Amino acid sequence: MTEAILLVGGKGTRLRPLTVHTPKPMVPAAGVPFLTHQLVRARAAGVEHVVFATSYLAEVFEPHFGDGSALGLHLEYVTEEEPLGTGGALRNVAARLHSAPGDPVLVFNGDILTGLDIGALVATHRTSGADVSLHLTRVPDPRAFGLVPTDADGRVTAFLEKPQTPEEIVTDQINAGAYVFTRSVLDTIPDGRPVSVERETFPGLLADGAHLQGMVDSTYWLDLGTPHAFVRGSADLVLGRAPSPAVPGRRGEHLVLDGARVAPDAKLTGGTTVGAGAEVGPGARVEGSILLDGAVVGPGAVVRDSLVGAGARVGARSVLDGAVIGDGAVVGVDNELRAGIRIWCDARIPAGSVRFSADVA
Ligand code: GDD
Ligand code: MG
Repeated sequence: MTEAILLVGGKGTRLRPLTVHTPKPMVPAAGVPFLTHQLVRARAAGVEHVVFATSYLAEVFEPHFGDGSALGLHLEYVTEEEPLGTGGALRNVAARLHSAPGDPVLVFNGDILTGLDIGALVATHRTSGADVSLHLTRVPDPRAFGLVPTDADGRVTAFLEKPQTPEEIVTDQINAGAYVFTRSVLDTIPDGRPVSVERETFPGLLADGAHLQGMVDSTYWLDLGTPHAFVRGSADLVLGRAPSPAVPGRRGEHLVLDGARVAPDAKLTGGTTVGAGAEVGPGARVEGSILLDGAVVGPGAVVRDSLVGAGARVGARSVLDGAVIGDGAVVGVDNELRAGIRIWCDARIPAGSVRFSADVA
């Protein structure tokens, strides 16, 4: 039986205010809590038992996924009293695994959308005889990630988490947030205190001469940790650019969930999702965006690359571009909210009170 641990205890700080009431992995992407995509892909790769390592808003996961039988999985939930970091979280749940010391155990960061061939990562682990195998991907700017240089055989030579100096930027290969651990290696992580798998466990294993194997590929990969990336990832799921069997509908320009109301002349493009009970008014345009359940976009409004939270309202003729509107917030008519703006949950933006000038330096 293949087992996996899902790391889902982070605070999702960069995604606020979406993560004020909802942990990052539970924010809906393409109409379902993001984690659903990861779980269904793991199941398709033969994973049967998944242990959630939870901390922040831990109580939200189990009521939604239950024992996992609806997904053909056996799910268990373990909550840290204090956040234990990525490595401490792994050690904290290890007792729930059924795997023997030499068996492979999958580990996933809970915010990664990827086409990774999970079976190929497990196969790499077996054939290389590694202690840990890591999915690696290449990105143009690796500074926000864990840098993982490898030798000609794909063996990891160093692990540099979020490098601070130019000298440390030795590769464009980064840790893509999926690992296979030989089970006994998980049991060597110190117990009962915070441990970062990236800053402590991986560098420590390398210093001790352990075998860490990298598997680089160029499949779809995105960390959904920022609003911009989250909206992008959801749109890519709807468009079919990112693979997931869990998208509830056909791939295309838009996904409209049951109970949504869209005016006949409204335009939905670029992988937009309209949530259950959401409304899009006459003449409105919504491009590459997420409207969560019960959100309302007024007549003639334009919403581009943005996320409108549950029950939030965007007034007539308002323009959103790269904006995040928190749950329950109200943006009055004739506003213009651009690039990176975040409106907090339940906030009120009066009519015509925010404008954008490209002239201001
Ligand atoms: N249980 C638990 N406890 N989970 C945690 C904790 C904790 O204390 N801290 C973080 N996590 C979970 C998060 O919920 C997330 O799923 C995962 O661990 C990674 O945390 P992020 O906060 O998303 O880290 P990151 O994106 O800055 O960096 C990580 O991912 C990159 C790839 O996206 C690192 O693993 C990097 O090395 C990697 O390149
Ligand atoms: Mg992340």
